[in-house]
Amino acid sequence: MITVTSIKELKEVVNKVRKNSTVGLVPTMGFLHEGHMSLVKQAKETVDFVVMSIFVNPTQFGPGEDFEKYPRDLARDEQLAREGGVDLLFTPTVEEMYPKPGRTTVHVSGITEKLCGASRPGHFDGVSLVVSKLFHLVQPDYAFFGLKDAQQVAVIEQMVQDLNFPVTIVPCEIVREADGLALSSRNVYLSPEQRKEALILSQSLKHVKERFLNGERNAEVLRQEAITLIEESPLAQIDYVSLLSYPELETVSYIDSPAIIALAVRFGNTRLIDNALLKN
Ligand code: PAF
Repeated sequence: MITVTSIKELKEVVNKVRKNSTVGLVPTMGFLHEGHMSLVKQAKETVDFVVMSIFVNPTQFGPGEDFEKYPRDLARDEQLAREGGVDLLFTPTVEEMYPKPGRTTVHVSGITEKLCGASRPGHFDGVSLVVSKLFHLVQPDYAFFGLKDAQQVAVIEQMVQDLNFPVTIVPCEIVREADGLALSSRNVYLSPEQRKEALILSQSLKHVKERFLNGERNAEVLRQEAITLIEESPLAQIDYVSLLSYPELETVSYIDSPAIIALAVRFGNTRLIDNALLKN
């Protein structure tokens, strides 16, 4: 595995490789876990050459969010990336990615105003900006994103379509702990008690999915049942529980096309997200 920190070195390597190999990009913010490694696995099955980026992107964090204390461990990440079969690791500094204050924004309208976009204004502009930059720098044939951030996947797909990026987006399944908790770099913030109570997220989604598969199609009934279950946990503070069409993220009352139940819940200062797709 080659590790580079500068855009110049990144371009030198990928420009050579691209001549006779397909290239895949796994963009991450590091503190790697099995969820990220499943993206690498999928990338290795799809392309000849796997590039992973590790960059905690300041433009997608709002004031007062956890940019400064977002977990980082580059030495461990490098080892995991190497063991996972990443070919090229790109770990730029903030100055390398944003040498001067920029004047260009990449704003996907509509779907960014719901769910996490409503709770974290500007978040998806930061994501679209950095992902656009990475797509231009790496020019991957395929890029791999986890469905735990299903809204992010919808936003990136829309951006790729609208701006004709020559890349195929590969959405990858959510990876969970054996007890159901969706893997997230932020899980390290949870106290043992919060960690135990956070199981209510996957349990409530499982309940909704089962009710859907058994024929319940009333979106508000399903949403309320999820809320009732989550509220049983005294430590859980609901940010949102929404049931929307997917990937359009429009309000639905009767579910007759693919939909998503998505939630964001705080345990202390830790905000966790999870979701389940509802389709026959
Ligand atoms: O999903 C993430 O980790 C980030 O939002 C991404 C796509 C790497 C952009 O910074």
